[in-house]
Amino acid sequence: MTINAMSQDSLQSMPYWLAGPGARASTLPSYEVELAGFHRAFECELQALLRSLPLRPTMKVLDLACGDGFYTRRIADLLGRGGSVTGVDVNRAFLSCARAEARSQTGEAHLDFLEASFDALPFPDETFDFVWCAQNLFSLPSAHAVLRHVARVLRPGGVLAVLENDTMHQVVLPWPVALELSLRAAELKALWDESPDPEKYYIGRRLAAVLAAAQLDPIRTVTLAMDRQAPLGGPERDLLQAYLDGVEQRVAPYLDQAGLHELRQLSSPPPRSTCSSNRTSP
Ligand SMILES: C[S@@+](CC[C@H](N)C(=O)[O-])C[C@H]1O[C@@H](n2cnc3c(N)ncnc32)[C@H](O)[C@@H]1O
Repeated sequence: MTINAMSQDSLQSMPYWLAGPGARASTLPSYEVELAGFHRAFECELQALLRSLPLRPTMKVLDLACGDGFYTRRIADLLGRGGSVTGVDVNRAFLSCARAEARSQTGEAHLDFLEASFDALPFPDETFDFVWCAQNLFSLPSAHAVLRHVARVLRPGGVLAVLENDTMHQVVLPWPVALELSLRAAELKALWDESPDPEKYYIGRRLAAVLAAAQLDPIRTVTLAMDRQAPLGGPERDLLQAYLDGVEQRVAPYLDQAGLHELRQLSSPPPRSTCSSNRTSP
């Protein structure tokens, strides 16, 4: 079977999310707030990304490990009568958010959500024209296994689109170069100590090779940089703060005292102004 694959690497402000044995859960994972924040902060870019996909109105689409259905709903909007998109995930809490949000969906395409694991997809072989898989390969146990199961349900000539990031460069800030280097070295040590498979955290840079190893024919690789300048909006500020807090926690045991002090100074939120001119009169 020949399958066309399209990979999309992205360089963006996004934390890395770990899905452990608790992934099949009835509560939302702790990273949900950051994930939703990421969707909010980069809604425009993510919409543009989806619009650039080779989707056709009547396609049958699978959104694998769909989370809260952010992408599933937007893909449904890009399809038309006769088209369908199915979001699959193991997390019931995510699925119930996804179903609740989908109630206000007004498009013509069919949209549904199903509880299933990527390695037990309840679909016959060659069911889908298109599979979308966002921010999952680095968190699921084995990218190779995911791609094997995707290949089974994708029709010959169908398209797989993968969106991944690269933990080492998920946020590029204008901080001092020396701090950047020592921080990334500390982060790398932390990831190697934390995980038996640390390479998955920089799957973005290896995506073309990972897809080729799964015998998927590459169509296109796109690196997407999402740029923001100060003053940041609320969603971007919240996301950046959450990212900095997470990085500090991760690298603290691996960074020297001077580096940690510098990082803490740079990542502390500025004190809120108490200036009377900022207050509104009653
Ligand atoms: C980082 S989230 C990404 C969610 C979504 N794709 C997005 O970008 O918004 C990873 C998702 O993988 C799901 N997941 C974890 N293990 C899974 C499995 N075995 N099969 C299907 N989904 C799984 C989680 O519940 C979670 O929704």
